[in-house]
Amino acid sequence: MLSLMGRIGARHSSSMLSVAGARLFSAATARAVANESAGVAAWTKPSAVFWVHRGYGGSRSWSTVAVGDNGDRNESRNRAENGGVSASDGNIKDEKAVVSYWGVPPSRITKEDGTEWKWTCFRPWETYKSDVTIDLKKHHAPTTWMDKLAFWTVKSLRWPTDIFFQTRYGCRAMMLETVAAVPGMVGGALLHCKSLRRFEHSGGWVKALLEEAENERMHLMTFMEVAKPKWYERALVMAVQGVFFNAYFLGYLISPKFAHRMVGYLEEEAIHSYTEFLKELDKGNIENVPAPAIAIDYWQLPADATLRDVVVVVRADEAHHRDVNHFASVRL
Ligand SMILES: [Fe+2]
Ligand SMILES: [Fe+2]
Repeated sequence: MLSLMGRIGARHSSSMLSVAGARLFSAATARAVANESAGVAAWTKPSAVFWVHRGYGGSRSWSTVAVGDNGDRNESRNRAENGGVSASDGNIKDEKAVVSYWGVPPSRITKEDGTEWKWTCFRPWETYKSDVTIDLKKHHAPTTWMDKLAFWTVKSLRWPTDIFFQTRYGCRAMMLETVAAVPGMVGGALLHCKSLRRFEHSGGWVKALLEEAENERMHLMTFMEVAKPKWYERALVMAVQGVFFNAYFLGYLISPKFAHRMVGYLEEEAIHSYTEFLKELDKGNIENVPAPAIAIDYWQLPADATLRDVVVVVRADEAHHRDVNHFASVRL
């Protein structure tokens, strides 16, 4: 992985994004930008050098299928997906099995302590420690008419959101992450197609935007553990996604600059929301429950981390997204 990143980096040494590396939207961003001026590639050291691979094939060769054959195979597949814990062992409701198309069992990864890696949605080498020192107060002052339009579009979206969620910040975070994970995927897909059409490199932007989408989706996977969506909230997500995906797609086709500027302002609002979330936690209005296991592994948090620690690292991620999207608005 590291050597692949190195090769890509060498190929695009003139690009800020390639210098920033795969963790552009997380811990490495600030360091990478700082190192760019010195012409130094700032690859994030993989945090998972001690992990052990077992089995055949990687996650990329897996497919998700409905399982309809014998019970033993189901059991072993469920165990594989749930990190060695079968559905019958605990409260695991999602019994979707991950198997290879060729019937080869998924590879298994073992932690240093001998326990099995639980997650199929991210692997150990994709985990990181969030850079929580990032400046949370940075704001791009809108000067051009396009900036102002983006700024006021986001501000106007905030109003109904405040009314709907009030101080239910856990629920608010969960719902807003379903929206926040859309722009990176849309922008990444469109730039991917542009790269194909023009027979030219993307300068690292495709990978960077897809990583942003994945990072936002991990925020959602985390907050899902804290606030379970009700049926009408699920319905709302479907409606909002239907509108927002298409609106953003069209907006990106017309003006990537505007689209990224708007996301930059959305991220500024997300930082504000998470700061309010932290205030409610500190006042004791929201219970500071233990951090979900998925968050502990994804952000390499200590075993006794709490919801507050999770909100702090998620907020830092949003600050990185803010900087990258404002930067993209200038560059693209
Ligand atoms: Fe997020
Ligand atoms: Fe974000």
